[in-house]
Amino acid sequence: MAQAGAVVGICARRADLLEDVARACREHGGDARAWVQDLTRLDELEGFIGQAEKELGGIDMLVNNAGIPKRRAIARLTPAEVDLVMTVNYLAPVHLTLAVLPLMLARGQGRIFNVASVASRLGGSGESAYAASKAALGVWSEALAAELSPQRIVVQVVYPGPIDTDLVNAAGEDPPLAARAGIIRMPLPDAVAALMSQVEDGSFERWVPDHFREIYLNKVQDPEGAIATASTWLVELERQVDVASPNGAPR
Ligand SMILES: NC(=O)c1ccc[n+]([C@@H]2O[C@H](COP(=O)([O-])OP(=O)(O)OC[C@H]3O[C@@H](n4cnc5c(N)ncnc54)[C@H](OP(=O)(O)O)[C@@H]3O)[C@@H](O)[C@H]2O)c1
Repeated sequence: MAQAGAVVGICARRADLLEDVARACREHGGDARAWVQDLTRLDELEGFIGQAEKELGGIDMLVNNAGIPKRRAIARLTPAEVDLVMTVNYLAPVHLTLAVLPLMLARGQGRIFNVASVASRLGGSGESAYAASKAALGVWSEALAAELSPQRIVVQVVYPGPIDTDLVNAAGEDPPLAARAGIIRMPLPDAVAALMSQVEDGSFERWVPDHFREIYLNKVQDPEGAIATASTWLVELERQVDVASPNGAPR
């Protein structure tokens, strides 16, 4: 987006990495601002949007990209883990959206781009909490798009499959579902190119890569078959966890 000339505002928790990204944005022709903001602090997010709006001179587009994984077999999943993944992946985007929307409505235009996941619609074994958080974001996006399109607010959602980022290798998580299912991870530049083309064409929904949409449509035709396939992945997951740690703790 910086390469396309945008003023980019980014937030995350790690200040050093934020500054690296902001510097790269400037080097690629855009301007950038970075703020350290922990998105689990939901009560701070309205103030954060106000500050960002002031410093940027307006917000044309909100990208809800930050997210965390939760790969944990249900028998070992804790309520605190569910709360955290729901907060980062669903409630934070909702709070940010509710804070930015009045500003966009007052200007008569705006765009909200939500990064969901194939897990939103393909609930794989061992990913119940993550899938539920992304499903919530997906259906929230659909309802928002329907409600806001007459008011010139564009809402978009993307459902990416496995991409080669830190998220798939995060510490403390069970092994990735993609590895169990034999799915190849998409290189990050390919995923970014697909997302940018969606930003440019303005389409509401995109699956990246597109064949996951076919898998989803097949699931709708045969839900029992899809669950039988996904359950075989859980058996393999448990085997990997047992091998890694005899007491059953996640590796
Ligand atoms: N990689 C995949 O296979 C895949 C597939 C489908 C969807 N997605 C989605 O794509 C999005 C980007 O993920 P990624 O793959 O690029 O993973 P990533 O490399 O781990 O990036 C996640 C980003 O979220 C930020 N973040 C996490 N917790 C935060 C918090 N509490 N407050 C503020 N920022 C926070 C992280 O920064 P800090 O840690 O510095 O806060 C980081 O910048 C996520 O929504 C993810 O669910 C990824």
